[in-house]
Amino acid sequence: MEKKYRVKDLSLAEEGKKKIEWAREHMPVLKFLKEKYSKTKPLEGIKIAGCMHITKETAVLIETLKAAGAETYWSGCNPLSTQDDVAAALAEEGISIYGWRGLSIKEYYWCIDQTINVTPNITIDDGADLVTRLHTYRKEILDKEEVIGGTEETTTGVQRLIAMAKEGKLRYPIIAVNNAETKWNFDNVYGTGQSTIDGILRSTNVLLAGKNVVVAGYGHCGRGIAMRARGMGAHVIITEVNPIRALKAVLDGYKVMSMNQAARIGDIFITATGCKDVVREEHVKRMKNGAILCNSGHFNVEINIEDLKKLSKKREKIRKDVERYELKNNKKIYLLAEGRLVNLVAGEGHPSEVMDMSFANQVLSVIYLVKNKGKMEPKVYSVPIEQDMEIASIKLKSMGIKIDKLTKEQKKYLEEWKEGT
Ligand code: ADE
Repeated sequence: MEKKYRVKDLSLAEEGKKKIEWAREHMPVLKFLKEKYSKTKPLEGIKIAGCMHITKETAVLIETLKAAGAETYWSGCNPLSTQDDVAAALAEEGISIYGWRGLSIKEYYWCIDQTINVTPNITIDDGADLVTRLHTYRKEILDKEEVIGGTEETTTGVQRLIAMAKEGKLRYPIIAVNNAETKWNFDNVYGTGQSTIDGILRSTNVLLAGKNVVVAGYGHCGRGIAMRARGMGAHVIITEVNPIRALKAVLDGYKVMSMNQAARIGDIFITATGCKDVVREEHVKRMKNGAILCNSGHFNVEINIEDLKKLSKKREKIRKDVERYELKNNKKIYLLAEGRLVNLVAGEGHPSEVMDMSFANQVLSVIYLVKNKGKMEPKVYSVPIEQDMEIASIKLKSMGIKIDKLTKEQKKYLEEWKEGT
């Protein structure tokens, strides 16, 4: 019989199972949804192709979707982020999973293609590589008209899908899970904040206190990273292209300057912009000896690695996830995680507690798409506000936290405009 998976090493499965168990115990919203939907099976007969970091948290998402009746087919969404022990555990549990750490670009798309080959009804994407593949090289699958809709996990993916829709190229509805408040306001801020610092520390063990940490981009992710770096005693510098965000950073108490200025004084540079060439030749030339570069944005384009190579006379891997570039001007620059997501390559990604809410949004959005089959247009949708509220309520309940309810009079007051001074 043909194998339904391709992973690095099945003997890692036991370790992976223990990690998944840990995640399960820290994801109470998914636990609630799993119990609820294992009874009603709203996804019975639905084939899902997922393209998302293969982590212990993603494993719990897959379990939840299966409990709700779905058939799942999964690949990773980054060549370096797959946790091989988790992939092995999933394969051993009979999950159709394709991914391993360190795969080539050709292998990366081969893995995605294995999930597309089943002619999915729903796509779950993180970065929009699966959707892009379907709309370019695998259009024959879309022509079968079996795809009901999809979801997108991350800011970069949503950006790409909006561009696709604008050009009239998007062929089915996609829910932007990223834009749910119970996603971005927790995952992007606290998740990225903590996991990025975690990735830097795991790979370098460098002391953050007293260092000049340059954070490029003051969106939700940059904000989280800056907050946590400051909490560790670093002097945080923000670079931005958006004047409103830059101003916010100033009033949040950070130093704000151009990358050219920051390049001379930074000890650690962290990119979180979603844009390319944020750190490039002109900046690297100005950097101090010993500067550390890393990225927390979705793609490995934020630090121009070709520029770094061009300026270097020697390149050497000196620790796991740390490469030393010896520049022609004799300065040494350290690049973490090959310029890919440092939090997922050198760390384990966001903690289970925040992924709990992000992935609850995934489950509820998939169910929404199935329920509304044929009623939605091929465009990018927001998560319904009721869904956000429900997830926040379940999370609070799982934490044993009670909040107040509006009285009848208060509700009425909030809906009226006549009562004033
Ligand atoms: N993105 C960021 N952190 C993640 C995690 N732990 N699992 C899946 N996707 C992620």
